[in-house]
Amino acid sequence: MIYFDNAATTFPKPRAVINAVTDAMKVCGNSGRSGHKYALCAAETVYNCRKKLAELFNTRPECVILTNSATTALNMAIKGTNCINGVTVVSSIEHNSVMRPLNSLRKNGDTVLKQFLADMGDDDITCENFSAVSRSATNIVVNHASNVCGRILPIKMLKKLSPGDAVFIADCSQTAGHIPIDIVELGVDIICIPGHKGLLGPMGVGALIINPFSDLVIDPILEGGTGTDSKMLEMPEYYPERLEAGTANIGGIAGLSAALELVEFSSKESELYEYLVNQMKNIVDITIYGLPEKSALSSYVPVLLFNKNGYDCEAVAATLSERGIAVRAGFHCAPNAHRTLGTYEIGGVRVSLSKFNTRREIDRFIDALNTV
Ligand code: ALA
Repeated sequence: MIYFDNAATTFPKPRAVINAVTDAMKVCGNSGRSGHKYALCAAETVYNCRKKLAELFNTRPECVILTNSATTALNMAIKGTNCINGVTVVSSIEHNSVMRPLNSLRKNGDTVLKQFLADMGDDDITCENFSAVSRSATNIVVNHASNVCGRILPIKMLKKLSPGDAVFIADCSQTAGHIPIDIVELGVDIICIPGHKGLLGPMGVGALIINPFSDLVIDPILEGGTGTDSKMLEMPEYYPERLEAGTANIGGIAGLSAALELVEFSSKESELYEYLVNQMKNIVDITIYGLPEKSALSSYVPVLLFNKNGYDCEAVAATLSERGIAVRAGFHCAPNAHRTLGTYEIGGVRVSLSKFNTRREIDRFIDALNTV
């Protein structure tokens, strides 16, 4: 199978990751609950993962909250920092992991939602659109890169244009592991990441990462045992315990920790992406979305949305699957992104690459597409 669905989850998982997951099942007890060797082994596994994430994203280990997904992290960040009568600003390309929790808050009257149009080619236009709505913002949630078309948004510029006291959350689901991210340099308060996409870890683990210079108090939306302050009926005030209730996914965390040893940022993905885009442009009956000619491809992670003109996107994906090529088709859990790209009615076929792909695979995909 040629696997071009890496924005959903990267595949294959490295052997070291698979081994770490199964090894953890053999040697780990419950982290932070006891002093015996199995519990200590689990605690060490959790700490090592936390420390590696802290180093990768430039924060302190206690500012890394391990979760079971980016969606959980985003719900925790959005609902845990929501202020009553707030105004939340989002981009026009957000995923449902941002839009659904925010829509619940909006329906309860807890926040007003404002949206700015993300331009697919010009960051200055994106910034102008942002400034037009962000003056009264108390909360800002912005996609670092679109899961639908790969466009990277200028988070650092947007942060500089934000009201100083607004909480800024970046959804880094499609950028973590693909491009370097320094939370201090970005200046945002929180980034949310999955472990199983660009970082190559297993599914079922993610993180909410807090800027080490932020004094933000995040209220827990999940409460329970932490292994500390057991006589208290409230969650501890200190991180990470404040936001980590219940038994950790030790297998997932061990796998992510192994995956973090393999992180390297090279030009391979962007070279493959450029090759894919150039090959796709040679096909006459294809429409590509969100990739303007003038835009440098470096403003995209390796995700490309297209339609074969006159064909249903699901049918194209099904035919490709029959020919041994895995892509995703449909609406990609991001309706506003499809509105922005002009595919709200028809959806699209998404190709998403990883460093494990090759030019040869792209050539085979192009051949298959030419004969759909
Ligand atoms: N959010 C993931 C995707 O874009 C699952 O496919």
